[in-house]
Amino acid sequence: MSTPTEATAPHVIVAALTPGLKRPAAALARALALPVGAIDEAAANFILALYPVPEAPGYRLELRQTGRGAPGPVFAEFVHGAVGHRRRFGGGRGQPLARAVGLKAGAAPSVIDATAGLGRDAFVLASLGCRVQLIERSPLVAALLENGLARAGADAEVGPIVARMSLRSGDARQLLDGVPTRQHPDVVYLDPMYPESGKTALVKKEMRAFRTLVGADEDADQLLAAALGCARKRVVVKRPRKAPPLEGPKPSTAIESENTRFDVYVRQPVQS
Ligand SMILES: C[S@@+](CC[C@H](N)C(=O)[O-])C[C@H]1O[C@@H](n2cnc3c(N)ncnc32)[C@H](O)[C@@H]1O
Repeated sequence: MSTPTEATAPHVIVAALTPGLKRPAAALARALALPVGAIDEAAANFILALYPVPEAPGYRLELRQTGRGAPGPVFAEFVHGAVGHRRRFGGGRGQPLARAVGLKAGAAPSVIDATAGLGRDAFVLASLGCRVQLIERSPLVAALLENGLARAGADAEVGPIVARMSLRSGDARQLLDGVPTRQHPDVVYLDPMYPESGKTALVKKEMRAFRTLVGADEDADQLLAAALGCARKRVVVKRPRKAPPLEGPKPSTAIESENTRFDVYVRQPVQS
């Protein structure tokens, strides 16, 4: 991973939007070793903001970039917005992600999503019946994701889906190596941060903000090696459609969609 250096590291603070959220803001700041500040703090590049909502845990955690032209806030969302829409109207088991993972009628493989991010892909798999363990190494991203899962857990329709998702914070290269053989999942899924393409207009503004904080995942080749040692049936790697596969063995097959390619490394067929 190429993380930002001390000199270039963005200044991130935690801030509560209402006085009632000051206490959870302070607890979160301690857990993430970040300073607490005011919601309009001029010196901050990013604000991890606690925004009041009625459902548990009582706030939505949002990452807000500051300054002119900054993109909208980034947060994990499983009930409303694009993810909710995809759940209701998406392609079900026929969509490329589901086919790549080996989801067939009657079969819902167990999955470790070793690059969880904001949990969108994992949520698609969980909504199709898979049990998904998520691993995320950026503590800040893991905090956004944990908050999204907690809020969705309170929703009558989405709660049972997120109950199939569990999150661990840490580096998957080590965590996958530590999974006992009898607990190996059917599938390990990887979606490392895309390499810089130069076509910045194609990368969503929100994603660029994200990359500033977590860096490019330049150690993804090592993650593939760890995934191949852990998956019982297959490893699936999401790539930009024209990008080369990760360094390592050749994929067994690939499933393409408009902008994306899923490289599939088959170890044994998923039972249908
Ligand atoms: C492109 S995002 C994944 C987006 C995700 N698929 C989604 O649907 O929201 C990549 C994420 O993987 C995480 N990551 C990369 N390498 C990792 C590793 N070795 N262990 C755990 N997390 C990792 C990064 O911190 C980043 O949050």
